[in-house]
Amino acid sequence: MAKSTKKNSAESKLRVDTIVQGDCIEQMNGMPADSIDLIFADPPYNIGYKYDKYDDNRADEDYLSWTYDWVDACARLLKPTGSFYVLIGDEYAAETRVHLKQLQRDGQLVFRNWIVWHYTFGQNCKLKFNRSHAHLFYCVGSAACDLKNVDKITKDAPWTFNRETIAVASARQTVYGDRRANPKGKLPDDTWYLRPQAAIDAGEQLFDPDCDTWNVSRLCGTFKERVAWHPCQLPEAMLERIIKVSSNEGDIVFDPFAGSGTTLAVAARLNRHWLGCEKSPDYRKKALDRVKHCAKTGEPLLSDLSDKGIERGKPRKKAEPKRSTREQVTRVTQS
Ligand SMILES: C[S@@+](CC[C@H](N)C(=O)[O-])C[C@H]1O[C@@H](n2cnc3c(N)ncnc32)[C@H](O)[C@@H]1O
Repeated sequence: MAKSTKKNSAESKLRVDTIVQGDCIEQMNGMPADSIDLIFADPPYNIGYKYDKYDDNRADEDYLSWTYDWVDACARLLKPTGSFYVLIGDEYAAETRVHLKQLQRDGQLVFRNWIVWHYTFGQNCKLKFNRSHAHLFYCVGSAACDLKNVDKITKDAPWTFNRETIAVASARQTVYGDRRANPKGKLPDDTWYLRPQAAIDAGEQLFDPDCDTWNVSRLCGTFKERVAWHPCQLPEAMLERIIKVSSNEGDIVFDPFAGSGTTLAVAARLNRHWLGCEKSPDYRKKALDRVKHCAKTGEPLLSDLSDKGIERGKPRKKAEPKRSTREQVTRVTQS
């Protein structure tokens, strides 16, 4: 039997379909253990982003011990049949992965995939290669710890994995017309290749059903889905896949770092119960409006450029290239 170290506080109850304002660790520790079907966590990466109420410049050790604490709090909340995703940057991916390994040894979860989200449109660096990826760790709850060889299972897994909701056409089907191809397609690879150019070409349809990579872009400021008030909003298409594959209608989806409310907005659209924590009262209020809109209409909240104070102007005029004096002299002489 998997070792369970989960404890319930006597008075813990779970409210759903809301965003709680406050520190997520405190909030999670007051919630009942084994109560959440799907957790998606996109914490601040400690890279100096400007948030409303959070300082994203912490000492290394401080950030790491905080990370272990919130990961542990998530593991406590996760149902044995649940799923847990963590999105993290390069800086702390290795330590976070090692911590998840320890939780697996302790019988609290099982690690399933290290997914790489490959995007373009990142920041241009001056003296090193441009960053174009983030890490997504996918784990399932402790029920998987009891299985003899978890990787050999092909059906009746104790966790939710709705293959049919995310399967894509295989190359055997689309390119080679191979009659042996599974007519139900194949599962996407664990590298999700996200290009805004492709998204723009597809009219912001960020996921191509014929593509086995996850063709979902980072959100550019000009995308209708992008809110103007949060620094690092994720694309809904990414959450849509995660929520569809790892939960069912009526399940509870939890996001400890709600931010602009992306996870919860998609969960609401897909008829899941949603619950989040957010430190900033301002983000919380705006995220709640977004989620309620999605719950009511079943549609994403879209806004025009003018709502964001962006004017679509003419392309900026290219600056005249600087010319050396010698070149200028030659040009004058020639004319
Ligand atoms: C990377 S953002 C999440 C973005 C979100 N995935 C989205 O798509 O909008 C991290 C969020 O965590 C919030 N935050 C930071 N520390 C927190 C804490 N201790 N408890 C709850 N929220 C916190 C920040 O205010 C920020 O909005």
